[in-house]
Amino acid sequence: MFNRAIVRTPGESMLSGLTTANLGLPNYEKALVQHAEYIKVLEECGLQVSVLAKNEQYPDSTFVEDVALLTKECAIITKPGTPSRSGETVEIKKVLKDYYLNIEEVREPGIVEAGDIMMVGSHFYLGISARTNENGAGQVIEFLKKYGMSGSLVKLDKVLHLKTGVSYLEQNNLVATGEFLTKEEFQNFNILEIADDESYAANCIWVNDRVLIPKGYPKARETIASAGYSIIEVDVTEFQKLDGGLSCLSLRLF
Ligand code: GLY
Repeated sequence: MFNRAIVRTPGESMLSGLTTANLGLPNYEKALVQHAEYIKVLEECGLQVSVLAKNEQYPDSTFVEDVALLTKECAIITKPGTPSRSGETVEIKKVLKDYYLNIEEVREPGIVEAGDIMMVGSHFYLGISARTNENGAGQVIEFLKKYGMSGSLVKLDKVLHLKTGVSYLEQNNLVATGEFLTKEEFQNFNILEIADDESYAANCIWVNDRVLIPKGYPKARETIASAGYSIIEVDVTEFQKLDGGLSCLSLRLF
């Protein structure tokens, strides 16, 4: 169960955030409304939400998940794989000192974004992507081993982050789309398949027996609900325009 989440209010500089989405510029006012709704939903799921102030220096800093991996035993500060995000880790490290005694940090030449890391119990799958290299992922796996956990690598072909296309919903259920449907390492999961035309919904999050999915994906909703989950739809269109999804918008703590 998660007890707490950390989020960061988007700044107006989000309009110059990184994107490949081709969906147009985000509407800042709408993004603020959607972010507030996201916080409300996390609270409904029983989480105490700490809201960090917007940081205009970093246009993508509302995607707070990428800059740290939180486990039951330790926090691992990542090393974002793109220069415009590299400074985002400094402040999050200070914040996490309030919650963790054990804090590790990925060093160069490693790069890692935690959007590329999926937790399945005490095992972590690490996507090798444009934002996470083998050196960085290897450092994370060594940290995990130090605290009695484990990790393994997954090569990505197309998507930005591992969790762009795959999400673990506990009870051996794995939501997956596209290239992840056939990956050998995921074949022992019960795969809940998301169709290509709703692939954005593959980024969803399990929060204390509820599943948050993006609003507007009826087939994905039906598939996940059929597996027995209580669904909450959240409208995150303005973050989708920056390649961001539901998981990217929070760090969830035990
Ligand atoms: N816009 C999210 C990212 O590319 O990091």
